[in-house]
Amino acid sequence: MSVAQASALGGGTATRAPLDVAAIRRDFPVLTRTVNGKPLCYLDNAASSQRPRAVIDAISGYYETSHANVHRGVHRLSQEATDLFEGARETLRRFVNARSTREIIFVRGTTEAINLVAQSFARPRLQPGDEIVISWLEHHANIVPWQMVCEQTGARLRVIPITRSGEVDFEAFLGLLNDRTHLLAIAHVSNALGTVVPVDGFIAEAKRRGIPVLLDGAQAVPHMPVDVQALDCDFYAFSGHKMCGPTGIGVLYGREALLQAMPPWQGGGDMILAVSFERTVYNELPYKFEAGTPHIAGAIGLARAVDYLEDIGLERIAAAEHDLLEYATERLTGIPGLTIVGTAPEKAAVVSFTLGRVHPHDLGTILDAEGVAIRTGHHCAMPVMEFFGVPATARASFAFYNTRAEVDRLVDALQVAREMLG
Ligand SMILES: Cc1ncc(COP(=O)(O)O)c(C=O)c1O
Repeated sequence: MSVAQASALGGGTATRAPLDVAAIRRDFPVLTRTVNGKPLCYLDNAASSQRPRAVIDAISGYYETSHANVHRGVHRLSQEATDLFEGARETLRRFVNARSTREIIFVRGTTEAINLVAQSFARPRLQPGDEIVISWLEHHANIVPWQMVCEQTGARLRVIPITRSGEVDFEAFLGLLNDRTHLLAIAHVSNALGTVVPVDGFIAEAKRRGIPVLLDGAQAVPHMPVDVQALDCDFYAFSGHKMCGPTGIGVLYGREALLQAMPPWQGGGDMILAVSFERTVYNELPYKFEAGTPHIAGAIGLARAVDYLEDIGLERIAAAEHDLLEYATERLTGIPGLTIVGTAPEKAAVVSFTLGRVHPHDLGTILDAEGVAIRTGHHCAMPVMEFFGVPATARASFAFYNTRAEVDRLVDALQVAREMLG
């Protein structure tokens, strides 16, 4: 019996018992493999998490028994595929507590979700001189689409500064808001630093002024319960592959009234009700934004990932990862020459660091030889690197299937690197 099954039988999210990580690890086939003769120690979860057997089986089971194109066929397989696909949408609706499945748009991932909002929501509304507010700690996916729309419309990008600990400066944010501000687009959790942005205060201030808010939830959704109604945001974007689901699938949540008023951003099959050469009538929500054959298996796999995470319990996941973060922070702080970049009081399980003058890429290579997978580079957040005056950092990022023993392996591998690179 897998952990998720056992947990479901035992009451799922209701239980507060600590995670049985050894049992959870058995759900993830890849965690049994070796790298360079050593057991894999996978600490690159912020880039992409691993998948449990349940998700892999849901995808292959769909292809083995029920694959056909959705929404169009009257034959049995098409109906089954449609039911699975739309069932997945309902699972995702429940997961983020959207009011209706009309508010759940399947997209390729966070990047596509943000581009959709930039092109379909922002672009038609923006005039020269209007402003979009983002923060300094954004992933490029929450910078470049806004720069593009600014180029297209003559609008301006305003950037909220961050502090040395990696927090978004709330006072500076207040100072940036004015009657030209048309959108606040901000990360819920920073991928480069791990900062959990206290978005409630930012949203409340934006709402008081009637400014719509988009949250980039790519790094939040895998690690904490998210309720879009409680947050009161207008758009929320996230990716399947960071939350144990497939690549190439993600979700844009959008407030229905706003989505209704937005034009489609891609044209093609499925997003129409009627087409003639004179005129096309667009489909209703959410299909208006889903042109072409969707990633059916991706949506099914993502819904299975949601079930898996919920069976374990997002709050228990958050607690287990917090324990790993505290342990890793303490152990890494003890390594001479190691500097942690990003020390906000509220963090998700991400530790970015530099080690003396050693280039992070060299560190990453030595760690790989020890079987330890971390990420090195700018983490698609070049402005963050610029702010801290480093070209790159090394980043260990944890998931609920990681262990304190793996943190120890990271520390041991870093000691090896120190000895080799001096
Ligand atoms: C905070 C954040 N936003 C956006 C993205 C982009 O996600 P995707 O590449 O899945 O579209 C990432 C991916 O690392 C991220 O961490």
